[in-house]
Amino acid sequence: MRSVWKWSVWLSLIVSSVSPALAVELEGFDKDVMQAMDDAFKDLEPVIGARNTEAAISDVQVLLEGYQWTGDYFKARTDTPDAVQWNAEGHALLESVLASLNRQDFEKAAESARATAKNCKACHEVYKKSLSR
Ligand code: HEC
Repeated sequence: MRSVWKWSVWLSLIVSSVSPALAVELEGFDKDVMQAMDDAFKDLEPVIGARNTEAAISDVQVLLEGYQWTGDYFKARTDTPDAVQWNAEGHALLESVLASLNRQDFEKAAESARATAKNCKACHEVYKKSLSR
């Protein structure tokens, strides 16, 4: 219950803020992880389109490792519960891309990959903008 209450306070804070920029210092955040995720993500949709299961799985693995690192980073803090939430959602989406690839269901894999792009954006809107001064 307590955590539900906390979560709704966070949501209302985010929704009501005119500028999403939160004064959060992300010391120790590894941008190289994000760069690797970016490269893998840009490669992912074309290789799914080309029905290249092996290449797509290897991209998803890079992304899952990145989400793992990012999740550990945000879980170690107490002031970014929304980032932890987005990370978990993105991780689940990537797991479903992987499951679809294993079933050779490329359409479903592409659908989940597109949903992942929205997940990247959701976290960036709050936490990346605040950093790119
Ligand atoms: C849970 C939050 C979160 C998620 C999810 C997330 N990112 Fe990020 N990302 C960040 C943060 C925070 C930064 C800013 C780091 C900084 O500037 O110190 C960032 C920065 C980046 C950058 C810029 C790195 C640089 O060198 O400045 C890229 C590219 C990027 N993310 C790609 C992605 C992609 C692609 C995804 C989805 C597959 C993704 N991110 C998902 C939090 C997230």
